[in-house]
This record gives sequence, structure tokens and C-alpha cells, in this order.
Amino acid sequence: MTDKRVWFITGAGRGMGADFARAVLAAGHALVATGRDPDRLTQVLGPSDDLLTVPLDVTRREDAEAAVRAAVERFGRIDVLVNNAASFEAGFFEELTPEQIDRQLATSLVGPMRVTRAVLPVMRRQRAGHVIAISSSAGLGAGFEFVAAYAASKFGLEGWMEALRAEVAPFGIHTTIVNPGFFRTELLTEQSTRYAEPSVADYDARRAPLLDYWRSQNGRQTGDPAKLAQALLTIASQDPPPRRFIAGADAIGTAEQKIADLQADIASNRALSVSLAFDAEAA
Ligand SMILES: NC(=O)c1ccc[n+]([C@@H]2O[C@H](COP(=O)([O-])OP(=O)(O)OC[C@H]3O[C@@H](n4cnc5c(N)ncnc54)[C@H](OP(=O)(O)O)[C@@H]3O)[C@@H](O)[C@H]2O)c1
Repeated sequence: MTDKRVWFITGAGRGMGADFARAVLAAGHALVATGRDPDRLTQVLGPSDDLLTVPLDVTRREDAEAAVRAAVERFGRIDVLVNNAASFEAGFFEELTPEQIDRQLATSLVGPMRVTRAVLPVMRRQRAGHVIAISSSAGLGAGFEFVAAYAASKFGLEGWMEALRAEVAPFGIHTTIVNPGFFRTELLTEQSTRYAEPSVADYDARRAPLLDYWRSQNGRQTGDPAKLAQALLTIASQDPPPRRFIAGADAIGTAEQKIADLQADIASNRALSVSLAFDAEAA
């Protein structure tokens, strides 16, 4: 193939990160597969001359810097960064501990920032690159209960990515936000999801059905992560790649609802909103 690129993926040992990694290798690209357990990366992705496995816990800055150094030593460049790794601290906001909120933000917001901060100097030197962030329907504002911390991290991720886009575009660096709906990965297993301990009696009646709902979704999500991996290859090869890719019919439903809600919000107070300009003559 002519367009062989160097991909760098976080959380590549399981879930959709492993599907992304397999698809990238199968397409003939070079891959820096990173994760907290490097042995698992080798087991899952197998030996390949195009594969470098590197330990990387996205909550550790020194890991990110060392992983990027190893990537450049081995392949000389990084073309596509996929900020994929995340976890899910689930529960009502009032029942999530401050430590759970910190952990959610550390993994799903500050983690991608940390990894991207380490990668950007490489991409700036190249005057080329593509930063992809895996957000969620929850980053669009699905309004689901039990996702307050997770949605906060994904909204933060999106705000940061949208601002970053303008900052790095002059260097030939593209950015893409991906909003998956429900995909059948390991996210809703106990390895990835930690539920808040019950602590506020006012939520008792609503907690049990929500716990049942979220637990029941595990293994029944409608999206196929192997197909999402192929879609990721497609959008990464587009010139230019898209600013945003909404992945799955359920995610499109969420996005369309968000657009309708925003339009309704504008319409409900448009006159009040446009009446707020400073009136120099009256002053
Ligand atoms: N599946 C869905 O329905 C869905 C929907 C919307 C968005 N997403 C997003 O898709 C991305 C991938 O999630 P997934 O569904 O594939 O979940 P998953 O099956 O639980 O996989 C999560 C991955 O993140 C890694 N990870 C967790 N904490 C980490 C850390 N501190 N440092 C490095 N790696 C870490 C995990 O590695 P370990 O083995 O080390 O834990 C694992 O490889 C996430 O950003 C998630 O928010 C998923």
C-alpha cells in the first residue's frame, strides 16, 4: 500500500481500542499500541514487524512522554493519534465520591490531554498529523441519568478538542471527535465500570431500575466495534478528515435531539437574548 501511516492508540489491549489496533495492522499501517498491560497487548495483537507495544497509563505523564519517545525511535514519526482509553464511573452525581469524579476526569479528559501534549511536538515538526478523540453520545448531551461524571469528562474532551482544532490547523494537524452510541465492548463490565455506593436515600427508588438498565446493556449494545474500526480507517483516509464523526444510528438520534433542543432553547427566548447589546446612546 502507498499510504502507510504510523498510528498511536491508547487503551489498545481490549474493547474497541483492540478492534482499532487489529484493523490498523490489517490495513498495513504501523502501530504503536499502548495500554496499562503491555503483555496483554502482545497477546491480543500478536507479533508483527509493524507493531510496537508500549506501557501507557494515560493518568501518568511520564508514561505518555516515554511512549512517544519510543514511538519516534522505532518509526520516526506519528501520523494518527487515537485517544481511546476511558473508564466509566457510573451513578447519580450526589452519590459519586469526589475521588470517583477525579478518577473519571483523570482517565477520560486529562489523560487524552496528557497524551496529546506529548504527541503534538512530533506532529508540529512533521507539519502533519491527525488527532482523534473518542467521545460518546454522552459528549453530545444525551441527558441519561447515571452519567454525570462521564458526560462531564466527554464534554470537557469536546470543548478542549474544538479549541485545539483551531490552534493546530496552521501546522497541518487535523482533529476529529468521534461520538459512538452503544458499542459491544467491555465498557459495561466490572473491569471498566465502577458504580457509586448508595448513600442518599432520596435516590433509593430510582437507583435499582437504573442499575438494572445499565447492567442489562452489557453484551447487548447494538454497535459492532469491528465495523467502527473500519469506519475509523475510512475517516482517517479522508482529505481533510471530518471534524466530527457520529457513529451509530442511536448516536445520530442523540445528535438530532441535541440540535432540536438547541433550536428550541434559542426560539424560546430569542427576543430576550438579542436585547442584551450595550446601548451606547442610552448610556
Ligand atoms: N462501548 C461503548 O458503548 C462506548 C460508547 C461511547 C463511547 N465509548 C468510548 O469508547 C472508548 C473505548 O471504550 P470501550 O467501549 O472500548 O471500553 P472498554 O472495553 O472498557 O475498554 C477501555 C480501554 O481503556 C483502557 N483504559 C482504562 N483506563 C486506562 C488508563 N488509565 N490508561 C490506559 N488505558 C486505560 C482499558 O485498558 P485496561 O485493560 O488497562 O483497563 C481498555 O483498553 C472510550 O473512550 C469510551 O468512553 C464507548
